[in-house]
Amino acid sequence: MSPSTPSSTSSPSPSPAISPSSPSATAPPSTAPVSVLGLGMMGTALATALVRAGHPVTVWNRTPARTGPLVAQGATPAGTPADAVTASPLVVLCLLDNANVHEVLDTLGDTVSGRTLVNLTNGTPAQARELAARAAERGARYIDGGIMAVPQMIAGPHAYVLYSGDEEAYRAHRATLAAFGGTTWAGTDPGLAALHDLGLLTGMYGMVIGVLQAFALVRTENIRAADFAEPLVTWIGAMLAGAPEWARAIDSGEHLTDVSSIAVNQAAFPNFLAAYRDQGISGELFAPFQKLLDRAMAEGHAEDGLSRLAELLRDE
Ligand SMILES: NC(=O)c1ccc[n+]([C@@H]2O[C@H](COP(=O)([O-])OP(=O)(O)OC[C@H]3O[C@@H](n4cnc5c(N)ncnc54)[C@H](OP(=O)(O)O)[C@@H]3O)[C@@H](O)[C@H]2O)c1
Repeated sequence: MSPSTPSSTSSPSPSPAISPSSPSATAPPSTAPVSVLGLGMMGTALATALVRAGHPVTVWNRTPARTGPLVAQGATPAGTPADAVTASPLVVLCLLDNANVHEVLDTLGDTVSGRTLVNLTNGTPAQARELAARAAERGARYIDGGIMAVPQMIAGPHAYVLYSGDEEAYRAHRATLAAFGGTTWAGTDPGLAALHDLGLLTGMYGMVIGVLQAFALVRTENIRAADFAEPLVTWIGAMLAGAPEWARAIDSGEHLTDVSSIAVNQAAFPNFLAAYRDQGISGELFAPFQKLLDRAMAEGHAEDGLSRLAELLRDE
C-alpha cells in the first residue's frame, strides 16, 4: 500500500504506511447486529452511527441512565456486559482506558468466544498486544482501533478509524465499521493502530502546546487571542509544509540543512524562555526543548537541521 493509495481500495495487508480512506470508498453497507460497550461521548456517537446505518444495536454502559438516548433511537439496552456481548457477533468497546476494558473483559468469561472484539479505547501498542492475547485465550478475535475524530465528526466525511490485529475479522466486519467513517488498516500487529494513533496525536499535542503558549504570551500585553489566531494559523500552516522534508531527512539520516541550523535555534531559544519569564508566564512546556538543543550542540550537531532532534530523542 503506497502512502498515496487509500487503504479502502487496496487489500488490507501489513504495511508501515497508513492513509485515511473516505467513508464513501468503503464496502457496501452492512446491517449485521452490533453491540457497543461504553456510552460516553465517543461510544454514544459510535452507537448512534450504527443505529443510523440500520444495524440492530445492543448497548451497555456502566451507568445505565446513559443508554437512554440510544434506546430512544431504537437500540436495545443490556443489563450486563455479558448480555450485550451475547447479542451480537461484533462487539465494539469504547471505555475511558484499557484498565476499564480489562475489568469488563474479566466479567465476560467465555461469552466472547467466537466473537470479534473491536476495542476503540485509547491505549498503547503494548496494551493492545496484551488485550489481543487475552482475547485469543478466550477464543475471540481482536481488532484494536484508534479513532481519528471527535464525537461530532463520527460518520462524517473527515472521520476515520485506524485498525490493526485480526485481518480476517477486519475484512469480515469492515462494511459495518464503515458506519463510523473511513477505515484505515494499519497491520496485523495489534499494536500498530495505537502506534499510529499516538503518533498522530503526538503531533496534535505538540501543536496544542505551541498554540496555548503563543496565546498566553500575547495576552500578557492585552492582545486578544482572537486577533492573534489568524496569523498563528497561517504561520503554523506554512511551517508544517516543511514536515515532508524533515521526514526525508529523518529516514535518510542526512540532516545537514541550508534552512535553519541547530546552532541558530539554540542561540535564539534562550530569548523565548527569557521573554516568557519577563512577561510573567511559565516556560515549563518549553524548557525541555532548550535542553535538547543544548545536547544536540554538545554532541556536535550544530550544522544539522532540527530533524536531527528526532534521532536524539531515540537515544533517551
Ligand atoms: N472524545 C473524543 O474526542 C475522543 C476521540 C478519540 C478517541 N477517544 C477515546 O474514546 C474513549 C472514550 O472517550 P469518551 O470521550 O467517550 O469518554 P467519556 O465520555 O468520559 O466516557 C467514558 C466511558 O468509559 C466508561 N467507564 C469509565 N470507567 C469505567 C469502568 N471502570 N468500567 C466500565 N466503564 C467505565 C464510562 O462509563 P460511565 O458512563 O459509567 O462513567 C463511559 O461510558 C477514550 O479512550 C478516549 O481516549 C475519545
